Formats: sequence, C-alpha cells, structure tokens
Amino acid sequence: MSAKTIAIACDHGGIEMKELLVKDLAALGWSVLDLGTDGPDSVDYPDFAVKLAEALKGGKAERGVLLCGTGIGISIAANRFEHVRAALVHDAFGARMCRQHNDANVLVMGGRTTGPEVARDCLKIFIETEFEGGRHARRVSKLSGDGQA
Ligand code: RB5
Repeated sequence: MSAKTIAIACDHGGIEMKELLVKDLAALGWSVLDLGTDGPDSVDYPDFAVKLAEALKGGKAERGVLLCGTGIGISIAANRFEHVRAALVHDAFGARMCRQHNDANVLVMGGRTTGPEVARDCLKIFIETEFEGGRHARRVSKLSGDGQA
C-alpha cells in the first residue's frame, strides 16, 4: 500500500519549522511533497498558499501544512480556495477540533508564534484525528456554498 501524501509549504518565517515537521511527517509514514520555500530569502506567503492549494486540487496530496511567521497571512491566502479548509492552530485542542468538527485539510501554524514541541504535537494530532461527521458534516458543507438556502 502506498503512503498517503501531505504537501507542505512555507515562507521565510516558517522555514525552520518546516524542516522539523518534514522529518516528523516522514516518521509518521506520510510521503511528503515539499513545495518550498527552501532558504532564508524573503518570499511572498500567498505564492506558497497557491502552490499548496493547487497540489490539493490536482490530487497530488490529500492534506497540507502551511507555515509563515504568524500563520495568519498564509491561512487567509489558502482559505480563498473553495476546496481548502485551512485551520490556524496554536495548541493541541485546536489541532484536534479542526479535524473533529471542521474537517480541516490544511494545518497552519506560525513559525514565530508557536514553539517547536507544540508544533510537533499539533501536527501529530492533526494527522491522527478523524472528522466526526454528523451535524458537523452539514456545517462543513455550508462552508463551500453547498446546502445554502
Ligand atoms: C513575513 O515577514 C511575515 O509577514 C509572514 O511570515 C506572515 O507572518 C504573514 O502573515
């Protein structure tokens, strides 16, 4: 059975966190599609949100991780795509709830706002937690315009 694929991308504010999380994702058995950025040079976070959204849309990855300095800009950019449910998470509770209730397909964190061990914990929870469905499925369907009156 082939490993599931997760795409990861960041700007210069998330580069150290990306390097850390790529290793954890591989250890968790995921195939990692690393979309950059790859160095410390200043880049524009929307460009990397677009790359990741395209990878999800094209079926190259089932889930995603996005990182910038705060996680704010890159989550705003990612959520402009209808097929993306990007959750900016700061703790384990948020990581669990964004899967159980929101069926988030992209985890977003801030490389300058979240410590490395908290980020690793959030990633593991995001990966391992299932969507609860039920009443949450109705609400999630309304996020993309389906089921609206
Ligand atoms: C880049 O300096 C910074 O603005 C970016 O990483 C992010 O925090 C934006 O929301």
